[in-house]
Amino acid sequence: MSQDYRRKPTVLAVLNQKGGAGKTTIATNIAHSFVKDHKKTLLVDSDPQGSARDWNELNDSSIVPVVGLDRETIAKDLEAIWTGYDIVVIDGAPQIEKMSIAAVKIADFILIPVQPSPYDIWACADLVDIIRARQDVTEGKPKAAFVISRLIRNTKLSQEVHMALEEYKLPILKSTTSQRVIYPTSASEGKTVFCEEESNPAAQEIISIRDEIMEMIYGA
Ligand SMILES: Nc1ncnc2c1ncn2[C@@H]1O[C@H](COP(=O)(O)OP(=O)(O)OP(=O)(O)O)[C@@H](O)[C@H]1O
Ligand SMILES: [Mg+2]
Repeated sequence: MSQDYRRKPTVLAVLNQKGGAGKTTIATNIAHSFVKDHKKTLLVDSDPQGSARDWNELNDSSIVPVVGLDRETIAKDLEAIWTGYDIVVIDGAPQIEKMSIAAVKIADFILIPVQPSPYDIWACADLVDIIRARQDVTEGKPKAAFVISRLIRNTKLSQEVHMALEEYKLPILKSTTSQRVIYPTSASEGKTVFCEEESNPAAQEIISIRDEIMEMIYGA
C-alpha cells in the first residue's frame, strides 16, 4: 500500500463540534493503530487548541508524525503534504463550523464520536446537516458514522443512545470506546493505549473501531 505514491491517501476525519466528545483521544489512538498495522500515517491537528501537537511533543514525535493545519485552507494545505501517506487522520476542532465544512470536503470518512448524553446527541445536529449537504452533491461521499465514546458498561444508556442517534439516519458503529482510565493516563504521558500490551481492552476497542471503519470504506 505504501508503494504507490501517486495515490491519494485515505482521509479519516474525527469530527464533532461539541467540545470534549473524545475526538483527540480517538484520533491519536486510531492513528497509532494504523501505524501498528504498517500504514504510513499522518495525524493532522486541525484544532487551534493544539491538543494533538501537545501530545506529540510529549512523545518527541515518536508515535506518528503530527502536523498542525488549523486554517480553513486545510484541504489545499493537506494536499500539498500528503504524498506518500496511506492514511491521514484529522483531529477535528470544536466549535469552528468552517473547519468542519473544510474537513468534510476532503475526508473519505467522517467518524463522529458522541458521548452517551442527550446534550451531546443534540449537539450533533449541525455537523450532520453539513455532512448531508456534502453527500447530496457528491453521490453520498464522504461516508460517515457515529461512534459512542466513553460508554459506561452495563447501563441502559447504550440502548437509549442508539435510539436517539438513529434519528440522524447515519450508521452507528458497533464498536465503542468505554470509560477507561488508560485513555487519559496514556495521553498525559504522550502515549496511547498501544503502549501497553496490545491485548488490553482499550487497545482492542480501538482496533475494533479501526477495522469497522476500514470495512465500511473498502468492504463490499
Ligand atoms: N474512553 C474514555 N475514557 C476515559 N476518558 C476519556 C475517554 N475518551 C476521552 N476521555 C477524556 O475525556 C476528555 C475529552 O476527550 P478529548 O480531549 O479526546 O475530547 P475532544 O473531543 O478532543 O475535546 P475538544 O473538543 O476540547 O478537542 C479528555 O480528558 C480525555 O482524556
Ligand atoms: Mg480535541
